[in-house]
Amino acid sequence: MKKLVWSLTSFGLLLLMLPVNGVMEYEEIERFTDFNGTRMVENDVHSEAKLLRVPLTLIQSGTENGAVCLDGSLPGYHFHPGSGSGTKNWLVQLEGGQWCGTIKSCVNMKTTSHGSSKYMEKQLPFTGILSDKAAENPDFYNWNRVKIRYCDGGSFIGDIENKAAKLQFRGMRIWTAAMVELMGKGIRSAKQVLLSGCSAGGLAAILHCDKFTNMFDPSTRVKCLSDAGLFLDATDVSGGQPLSRLYADVVKLQNIATQLPNDCLRRLNSTSCFFAQNLINQVKNPLFILNAAYDSWQIQESLTPKSADPSGSWSDCRFNIAKCNASQIKFLHGFRTRMVNLISGFGKPSKNGMFINSCFVQCQTENHNTWYTKNSPAVKNKRIATAVGDWYFERGGAKLIDCAYPCDKTCRNEVVE
Ligand SMILES: *[C@@H]1O[C@H](CO)[C@@H](O)[C@H](O)[C@H]1NC(C)=O
Ligand SMILES: *[C@@H]1O[C@H](CO)[C@@H](O)[C@H](O)[C@H]1NC(C)=O
Ligand SMILES: *[C@@H]1O[C@H](CO)[C@@H](O)[C@H](O)[C@H]1NC(C)=O
Repeated sequence: MKKLVWSLTSFGLLLLMLPVNGVMEYEEIERFTDFNGTRMVENDVHSEAKLLRVPLTLIQSGTENGAVCLDGSLPGYHFHPGSGSGTKNWLVQLEGGQWCGTIKSCVNMKTTSHGSSKYMEKQLPFTGILSDKAAENPDFYNWNRVKIRYCDGGSFIGDIENKAAKLQFRGMRIWTAAMVELMGKGIRSAKQVLLSGCSAGGLAAILHCDKFTNMFDPSTRVKCLSDAGLFLDATDVSGGQPLSRLYADVVKLQNIATQLPNDCLRRLNSTSCFFAQNLINQVKNPLFILNAAYDSWQIQESLTPKSADPSGSWSDCRFNIAKCNASQIKFLHGFRTRMVNLISGFGKPSKNGMFINSCFVQCQTENHNTWYTKNSPAVKNKRIATAVGDWYFERGGAKLIDCAYPCDKTCRNEVVE
């Protein structure tokens, strides 16, 4: 059973290559969603055989444009064409998978799928928001669906090379080359488009949202969705700011400052302008923020990194929220409160949507179990796929904030063993 469940959440596994203080740690940990007994019903589980597997296409124009992965290899994407009423609609999903902010961590990343297409899976299962089945993905199943692979370590926005270390930081060029490629495949004449992304790709969806919108005719409905991209500039359990330190390194190493929005840079430094919390209110296009208020990656790497917890008193809690004691939960509630406060202004304009659930998880759109099964997480009885669809198609009721942990019994909390 464990293996079966693991295969469904393999997207989550990729997230476990953790650059802590600039040092990549490859943790071969199996992460799986905690289904407790009765919730693990047979028909809830995808059968491997029925999964749609979509092949990897390399972007050949990358060579001439210098749009390459960290190691200089070609970037890639997976594309499944739309059908029926979805033929003119496009979902573009940006893969996530950490940032690298030091030469050492970026060199390490070169030997993973997040730094080189040599290591990318030749095909990927399309599940959740990428699924081709109406029962699993009611609003987007018959759209053209594209997953752009992440191999630049800088949320698709850096642009420089480091010759000495043989590193290419070409996220921005990869983004541009991918868009040109999709134009050739027909996105140019799209009627409806959704730019989405998860984790580092969720941040990229925010960073690229307005420019993406400008590619289309004004009559095209274009919206953006950030899944688990709301990384907060947080203070860890020992008073440090590990994510801010990492971001400062990434922005510097990958020459990101020049690509960040000017209206942010006028107010704040470039490190701060790489934090979604300082960007979302300035995005002009409609944006949906989907995030767990107890984001498991942020708890593990930004609030309780091992470097901030030498005695290991957080080592159980950080991998399983059910094992946190009362004072730990109180600290995590503080993180949730900050997130909810930060997003309150964002929620005011009618164009925006949000779903902030009180679960211990990261990335909920591409996972079959969190996106749209009858046991998927819900806020006010609304599941994530429904909330996103209601916002996209303006059916109403798409600003949802959950009560504090542990009130929500619909969560699919992650447990790392
Ligand atoms: C799992 O379910 C059993 C039986 O329903 C219950 O006794 C137990 O407390 C549950 N465990 C968790 C972690 O919720
Ligand atoms: C950027 O500004 C933030 C907030 O004022 C500050 O905490 C951080 O140290 C600054 N970072 C850099 C690299 O100057
Ligand atoms: C809860 O965990 C913290 C460390 O994270 C520890 O300092 C504290 O003593 C624990 N409290 C109890 C009641 O065990």
